[in-house]
Amino acid sequence: MSGLFHRLATRAGAPVPFTIDGAPAEARAGDLLIAAILLHRRALRRFEFGPGDRAGYCLMGACQDCWVGLADGRRVRACTTLVEPGMAVVTGGADA
Ligand code: FES
Repeated sequence: MSGLFHRLATRAGAPVPFTIDGAPAEARAGDLLIAAILLHRRALRRFEFGPGDRAGYCLMGACQDCWVGLADGRRVRACTTLVEPGMAVVTGGADA
């Protein structure tokens, strides 16, 4: 499975295990959730108002395009949220 983002340099930090739609994934401590997801997937979530997927736009907390659901019921902006160990991201069936 190929992600939309690719690391250009090795990043220090402890491995952070999390899941995307139940599938195990790994990020690095200090990664934003948007990077953690898009290193593994091509989209963050299904678009709720039409066909297609969303992958964020501004990357600075302004456009609201990167909201993702978590299995614990929270909704977070992926571009302003650090990935945490055990986070369980729910994409709503976004294309991998
Ligand atoms: S990508 Fe625009 S608010 Fe997160």
